[in-house]
Amino acid sequence: MQEGRTIFWDDGICTIDQTRLPGEFVEIRIEDVRDLVEAITSLRIRGAPALGAAGGYGIALAARRSRFNTALELLMEMEAAGAMIKGSRPTAINLSWGVDRVLRAAAAKESAEDMRIAALAEAEAIAEEDLLVNRALGRNGARLLDDGASVLTHCNAGRLACVGWGTALGVIRSAVEAGKRIEVYACETRPLNQGSRLTSWELSRDKIPVTLICDGAAAYLMRKRKIDAVIVGADRITKDAVFNKVGTYSHALSAKAHGIPFFVAAPLSTFDAQHSEDEIIVEERSADEIRRLGDAILAPTDVPVWNPAFDATPMELVDALITEKGVFRPPLMPPI
Ligand code: MRU
Repeated sequence: MQEGRTIFWDDGICTIDQTRLPGEFVEIRIEDVRDLVEAITSLRIRGAPALGAAGGYGIALAARRSRFNTALELLMEMEAAGAMIKGSRPTAINLSWGVDRVLRAAAAKESAEDMRIAALAEAEAIAEEDLLVNRALGRNGARLLDDGASVLTHCNAGRLACVGWGTALGVIRSAVEAGKRIEVYACETRPLNQGSRLTSWELSRDKIPVTLICDGAAAYLMRKRKIDAVIVGADRITKDAVFNKVGTYSHALSAKAHGIPFFVAAPLSTFDAQHSEDEIIVEERSADEIRRLGDAILAPTDVPVWNPAFDATPMELVDALITEKGVFRPPLMPPI
């Protein structure tokens, strides 16, 4: 694995299979757009900024694999690949943002050869920028945390969810880097356990104190122990709501009830100024994610299940949006 990077290009898309963590650290190389779509839908690659980079690299991959040598035919094939990739997970805006950005860069070229070069260069630029952006938003957000702070987080908005460093966990890492002692409570994040499998793994590897709780314990934790802030990442931020892993809304309500600030850390690429909450498709996933755990059956197989992957937290519950361009207190929003 390249130093400090979760996803990078080496004759294909190289990344960590996040479904195997924390049991096994398995590196994969994706060499085909269909395999990329499978990796995204199965959450081998996940987290909004990582999806942005994967989407960009996916277009570079489509260009590389295409047999067409005229600019028009190649562009049509890249656009078809883009539609497939974008359709694989609809809620995280970074995925379509990454795809579209690379398509635009390629479309500006006149020959197929230049389009291939431009596609890979733009995908690399997205990945490089993600590292810088996360560092910048981390520094901005770290100022909101005092030495000795206890922070609750949900899902995984860390290094694994990005090209590196992280958004919500990036803020925590930057605070620790600045010499502050930070203690983290990680919610396990049912049904796919990104909190227990990924966040607690990342933080314990970095020797940042982390305590794991089940999602249902979060409100009681806020009542019983000192929690100074809730910090989460985001998959899409419209003018009126923050879309993030299901369960986030409950934590925002609990934080409000207990007078605890609720912070969202996300790059500008996660903002969607064009839409409002009601217009966004929230991905619904398979019932088996709730009914089963590996081979174990957790529920009668005929009980109906509703399994939205994300929820929307109304902007009124958000105390600060932490971005690379600074900290914005809603209703103030970053300029995009
Ligand atoms: O379904 P996932 O694991 O892709 O959901 C990810 C999240 O909800 C993260 O909190 C979000 O993408 C922010 S990542 C920096």
